[in-house]
Amino acid sequence: MLRFSDNYKLIHKALARVNSQVECLYKSQDSFLRPWLRNTSAVRGKQLRIHLTLLAARACGRITAPVERLAAAVELFHTATLIHDDVIDNAKQRRHTATMNAQHGNETAVLMGDLLFTQVMTIVFEHIPPKTQKVVLQAARQVCLGEAQEHYFRGKLNLSILQYQDIIRNKTASLFSACCEGGAELAGGTPNQVGTLSVFGQALGMAFQIQDDILDFTGNSARVGKTLGVDLKEGRITLPIILAMQKLPKIEQKKFSRAVAAGAKHLPFIRRILQERGIITEAKAMAQEFIVTAKRALRNFKETRAKHELHCLAEYAVNRDR
Ligand code: IPE
Ligand code: MG
Ligand code: MG
Repeated sequence: MLRFSDNYKLIHKALARVNSQVECLYKSQDSFLRPWLRNTSAVRGKQLRIHLTLLAARACGRITAPVERLAAAVELFHTATLIHDDVIDNAKQRRHTATMNAQHGNETAVLMGDLLFTQVMTIVFEHIPPKTQKVVLQAARQVCLGEAQEHYFRGKLNLSILQYQDIIRNKTASLFSACCEGGAELAGGTPNQVGTLSVFGQALGMAFQIQDDILDFTGNSARVGKTLGVDLKEGRITLPIILAMQKLPKIEQKKFSRAVAAGAKHLPFIRRILQERGIITEAKAMAQEFIVTAKRALRNFKETRAKHELHCLAEYAVNRDR
């Protein structure tokens, strides 16, 4: 399995600077907030969005101060959305520790998520030129829209693949795309480079979320570090379920849909069907297709180290087990 951090030597120093900016922001909070934010600040995730922003910039030019600010802003934005997402999903664990809602309650989690959102806006308005501000704000709106769509469609077993793709394009791929587009724009990329990287980010984001939805069924929770089986429990209809509903013979469909409707109780049965009927393989193939699209988008970029590292990120998105 690919070790995530091994492959990104090119952005090593910039990554450390962005992380220390994020760290500073947590440290600068009023003292009564610090116990609530302690876990969030201490336990950081894969920082994929920071990597994408920095690498997209590097593929087009230099990593400047605004690029690093953008990377910090998108990472904080992502963290804020996860804090709220864990409330919505009623998730107890993330990044191998208790979620904020599990530790401090939903009220605190809603408030801390909001607080981080406003701080993201401050960074964006103070340090990022208007053109890129628009990119970030548009993506932020899409993420919220996607989360709302997912909530709206819960329990709807007849969700189509196109509707599913629309949801994940909004809730996940839009921000990946904005990282790439913004990073490229701030580094002085040509309109063609900016557009191409935006497509790359979007396709990578689609693949990433499909893999996320697969791991919710197949993952090892000790390895993934977060509560699994959440989608089923909360009635979220994701790609594996949609494919199963389309693929299973009518007679089995009934039993399967009853099991899905009953939620987590039948998780072992559902897992078995998804594996044995090749549904997980099929979902994986769709994620792989998005990675092919992502890589194809970069075909006219020179063969640089930055491009190589972007390719590594794309591979990681679909091959990860955490
Ligand atoms: C991620 O959605 C939340 C956002 C994109 C805002 P999920 O609910 O699928 O992600 P995990 O599984 O909790 O990390
Ligand atoms: Mg979630
Ligand atoms: Mg969710």
